[in-house]
Amino acid sequence: MAAFVGRATKQALLRTKPALFNQQATIVTFSSKTGKRLAWVLGSIAIGGGTVVATALAQPTFASDLVLHPPKYPWNHNGLLSALDHGSIRRGYQVYKQVCAACHSMKFMCYRNLVNVIMSEEEAKAEAEEALVEDGPNEAGEMFERPGKLSDHFPNPYKNEEQARAANNGAYPPDLTYIVLARHGGEDYIFSLLTGYADAPAGIKLMEGQHYNPYFPGGSIGMAMALYNEIIEYDDGTPATQSQLAKDVVTFLKWAGEPEHDTRKLYGLRAVIIFSFLLAVSYYMKRHKWSVLKSRKLAFKPPTYKK
Ligand code: HEC
Repeated sequence: MAAFVGRATKQALLRTKPALFNQQATIVTFSSKTGKRLAWVLGSIAIGGGTVVATALAQPTFASDLVLHPPKYPWNHNGLLSALDHGSIRRGYQVYKQVCAACHSMKFMCYRNLVNVIMSEEEAKAEAEEALVEDGPNEAGEMFERPGKLSDHFPNPYKNEEQARAANNGAYPPDLTYIVLARHGGEDYIFSLLTGYADAPAGIKLMEGQHYNPYFPGGSIGMAMALYNEIIEYDDGTPATQSQLAKDVVTFLKWAGEPEHDTRKLYGLRAVIIFSFLLAVSYYMKRHKWSVLKSRKLAFKPPTYKK
């Protein structure tokens, strides 16, 4: 192969500058023009084919490719510069608190995180006080319970994983803080999962306590359908249909996983504006500094000799 490439490139050199390499012309091994052309075509096909095969082999096949992929939904925050829908985050928090929190923890979230995103500081304090938090030990060496503070984490519905499994037929409800980032398909997957429950098709047998959901890898999930039309009533009066509840809780979970989302896009926009300005300035400076060198003319003045 290397020999062929070497020879072929030499051919190209020979063709472009025949005068320079005149003496070496005897090296040519292809006798005719057609032969050369054929060699080029075959070489290109070999290289192209090799690249295609190598790329195909580098793509692994995952067993998880065999599940139903969620459709792509037009989320409000999908755009390059679009922020999260904060009304939706607020409603989604309500859904999490009233529905999902019965089984799922969000142990990386604190009440202080809600301030100025979902509610005011006073509202968040009142929200935290609704929860009873274990604290201590006191002077008597005992743990005690007190109303929550802004610095407290969201309460966990179970004491430990064993208790969670025991209450859910052996299935463990995962922590939801980073779930949108932790699942292939992100928001689309969680939304489809929450709204995608169906009766098991013929031929699929579910074990006790399992439910059929085509979006869940394997199809049988240990979580029953959690969202129904009107299962809760929104504070802001939005009609609480199943898809609305799912969309809101997913937007809330997206925010929980990526609280810097809006700031990141804002800073990205600022960086683009500032750097394009700096680019223009540095281009001007470069032209300015080089102008002297670029417009310089070197002239050779042959010396004149007196005869
Ligand atoms: C009755 C308890 C219960 C409630 C209520 C509940 N879940 Fe679950 N959830 C579970 C269990 C149990 C699992 C683990 C299922 C499994 O592994 O088979 C689970 C799994 C999940 C998963 C992970 C799926 C995966 O790909 O691994 C997500 C996401 C999820 N739940 C979201 C929610 C959301 C959002 C809500 C609120 C709207 C909610 N759940 C309400 C019990 C619950």
